[in-house]
Amino acid sequence: MSHAEDHEGTRRDFLFYATAGAGAVAAGAAVWPLVNQMNPSADVRALSTIRVDVSGVDNGTQLTVKWLGKPVFIRRRTEEEITAAREVDLSDLVDPVARNANIPGAADATDQNRTLDEEGQWLVMMGVCTHLGCVPLGNAGEYTTDGGVGGWFCPCHGSHYDTSGRIRKGPAPQNLPVPTAEFVEETTILLG
Ligand code: FES
Repeated sequence: MSHAEDHEGTRRDFLFYATAGAGAVAAGAAVWPLVNQMNPSADVRALSTIRVDVSGVDNGTQLTVKWLGKPVFIRRRTEEEITAAREVDLSDLVDPVARNANIPGAADATDQNRTLDEEGQWLVMMGVCTHLGCVPLGNAGEYTTDGGVGGWFCPCHGSHYDTSGRIRKGPAPQNLPVPTAEFVEETTILLG
């Protein structure tokens, strides 16, 4: 392939992503990961660990922080969200693997294997849809105990994640990954 052809290929890909991005934004999603992959700044690449103060995060809300150029959701779940996540029959899951960087090997995708604390109040996940990388919306999925709105929804192609961030419906193949994270102080989470 000549250099010129190669360049054209790259340009076509860029236009495809740019078009997909415009559609996604109109639908309410962001294309943060793709944008960042194309333009990673040196300081973002260098920052492999960050400390996050979560003292201001109320029950039923989430904080989105940027880590290694990607969004990370830090959610403080309500009792309802925890119950909904823990009542799920594992045989109903699309992806049976926990996808938790803090647990080596292929642990089961129980809610307990995905949360940061034993009570299950804190859920930390990469905010990147495992289909094609859009940023899912919080409090917008179909999977709660009462059939109401909860979990995460990716409007790009309609993937629903439950209140544990596990894929339940739509084209995404895997649960939202849990990054390396721990509480280093009562209200401080270390990512990475
Ligand atoms: S990128 Fe999320 S459903 Fe396709």
